[in-house]
Amino acid sequence: MIIHNISQLLTLAGGPQRGADLGNLGLLSHAAVLIRGGIIETIGPENILLQTYPNEPRFDAGGRVVMPAFVDPHTHLVWAGDRAAEFELRLQGKTYQEIAAAGGGIRSTVRATRAASVEELKAQARPRIQAMLRHGTATAEAKTGYALQHPGELHQLQALLELDAEEEMDIFPTYLGAHDIPPEFEDNPDGYVDLLCTQMLPEVREWWQSHAPGRPLPFVDVFCETIAFNLAQSRRILETARALGFPLKIHADEFDNLGGAALAAELGVVSADHLVKTSPQDIAALAASETVAVSLPCTPFGLADPHYTPAAQILQAGGLLALATDLNPGTAWCESMQFVIALACRYLRLTPAQAIAAATINAAAAIGQAGRIGSLEAGKQADLLILAVSDYRHLGYRFGGNLAAHLFKRGELIY
Ligand code: NIG
Ligand code: FE
Repeated sequence: MIIHNISQLLTLAGGPQRGADLGNLGLLSHAAVLIRGGIIETIGPENILLQTYPNEPRFDAGGRVVMPAFVDPHTHLVWAGDRAAEFELRLQGKTYQEIAAAGGGIRSTVRATRAASVEELKAQARPRIQAMLRHGTATAEAKTGYALQHPGELHQLQALLELDAEEEMDIFPTYLGAHDIPPEFEDNPDGYVDLLCTQMLPEVREWWQSHAPGRPLPFVDVFCETIAFNLAQSRRILETARALGFPLKIHADEFDNLGGAALAAELGVVSADHLVKTSPQDIAALAASETVAVSLPCTPFGLADPHYTPAAQILQAGGLLALATDLNPGTAWCESMQFVIALACRYLRLTPAQAIAAATINAAAAIGQAGRIGSLEAGKQADLLILAVSDYRHLGYRFGGNLAAHLFKRGELIY
């Protein structure tokens, strides 16, 4: 099939974009895309492609923007219940940390999620996936982390694997057993770290190998934060996971700087996420590494906190910056990468072009998939988004609505 009549084709070709190079859209005019077997076969001048393949089915893009589908590299997609009451409490002056210390926060979602079956978890996640697709996201990372015990964490992994198989969005699971100290270990956090390292992580590996044979191991993530795991505990969990062969991620510097970003760089973690309170030294360490810095501007926005990722410093240092929603019931119930882009333009001061690159090719790099998705190039999976506008800068400029007109996943028209 040939997609033609494109105002601006944003290819994002050339791989992940570091530092000052962020924002190279690879913009082509009068270009068309030939897709075969779910893969982009070629991109070239529209008149030549239409002449060369006269019998190929055509899709008229209507004079609008065509770009890679969004990749959302940080979500907590699977949970039960909601925390609307906490949102109200925060508006009345309680902080996220105070609510967590009083047994709310992640723990309240843990109670609801532990009580839910795999089917119930899937049923609650499905409308979120539909909303993500509807807003142009074709691939997402998704974490466990709302059971903090087995088999509950494995039920979340199971739900993610089944949703990946059943739904049109591709899901890359992450095991986040280290999302919080479970209530059973309130007075013995190191005991939980012991359990994670000696039993739970090896169990995950075994479970994965029998439930997803041949599929690469999921990421292992840890919430490195004063209210969760300290730096030494985070190091131990990540080093243990690495020794077991898991690729790694880390939540770092959302509320406090514990040095998680530098740890990420040292351990070769695939992405370090949040990065609000990151120090200049940690930024330098990150920028000198292959670790992708993932900013989640919905989270401070959701908490009405004025502090955002110091994106300019990360880019100045030569870092790899990506964007994600952080979709979760506590701080950021947002399925839209378009809204993330709108926030990033305002609070991270990214241009629309930089934000788009951070939400596509660099977001793909944040889940280790930049060789397969995140850009429109010959040989890549045909995950394409057609916007309802002819100028890409409307992404960022406009907000609160939805500019996704059509989505192709592996060359199939989803809508
Ligand atoms: O990314 N940081 C940890 N996890 C989420 C919050 C999860 C929750 O509150 O349920 C976050 O902000
Ligand atoms: Fe998160």
